[in-house]
Amino acid sequence: MEPSEQRIKIAVQKTGRLTDHSIDLLERCGLKLTRSKDQLICYGENMPIDLLLVRDDDIPGLVGEDICDLGIVGLNVVEEKRLNRAADGRPTEFKQVFALDFGHCRLSLAAPEDAVYDGPESLSNKRIATSYVGLLKRFLDENDVEAEPVYFSGAVEIAPKLGRADYICDIVSTGGTLRANGLAEVDVLLESEAVVIQTRKPLGDEKQALVDKILQRLDGVLQVHESKYIMLHAPKEALAEIRDLLPGSEAPTILRLDGNDDKVAVHAVCRENVFWETLENLKAAGASSLLVLPVEKMLA
Ligand code: PRP
Ligand code: ZN
Repeated sequence: MEPSEQRIKIAVQKTGRLTDHSIDLLERCGLKLTRSKDQLICYGENMPIDLLLVRDDDIPGLVGEDICDLGIVGLNVVEEKRLNRAADGRPTEFKQVFALDFGHCRLSLAAPEDAVYDGPESLSNKRIATSYVGLLKRFLDENDVEAEPVYFSGAVEIAPKLGRADYICDIVSTGGTLRANGLAEVDVLLESEAVVIQTRKPLGDEKQALVDKILQRLDGVLQVHESKYIMLHAPKEALAEIRDLLPGSEAPTILRLDGNDDKVAVHAVCRENVFWETLENLKAAGASSLLVLPVEKMLA
């Protein structure tokens, strides 16, 4: 095994909404992993890449301080850390690379079910419990409202019952936690999903090449997610119309059909979901022998 400083380290949430998806995604990039006994590290067996399993709130810091080269974390956590650093006049030491289309949730305001909310002005002079003071303050400033953020590091949803706050501002995914605590969502501050972040510190050539490779594979896995390979037969005179109907495809391949001069075979990769409706429209335009196949891997 390479010395530890030459291995890529990726920070991943230890337990929570993002954990399984994050590990699954990296495995689909071709990484074979074994967990350490204490479950805190996943060692890459076939590539010099290890995962550090940590609290999601610590991920931007670990990447920013160059302990990890990459991190997979919710946009909510990234934005909060960025605002906290900006408030202290410190630059952000990591950059956001791309969104991963899982771990969708939102940062919302919620109030006891019987409370009246007529927009941000209803928050005036109220106490709002949250772990997201930065994002909450930004929302209050944007709406020109004075209110009092009350910091809770966890279990924010019990603050109204304890008489510590009038509202809460917290992450909502299914809404189950709010319902269980007699709270109702009244406004949304941020739509969030998992994103990849990368250190801004320059890496050596070899490490950088490996980071680029893993990012390219991640991008490929994301593209494959909805991509389909479509094959069909098209009358030559309907070719232009049929091409226009193919969802999110680049130049299709046109092939001659043996013993048939009126029709051609069209093969195309569609980078969007192919719905029954699309197939029906293609058929109505004259296409026949339609086949839709899943795409297993893709490298742009
Ligand atoms: C959030 C939030 C709630 C829960 C809401 O916590 O604090 O506890 O998710 O989800 P629901 O709408 O599906 O019930 P999170 O998972 O971000 O945990 P963390 O603060 O410990 O990271
Ligand atoms: Zn957390």
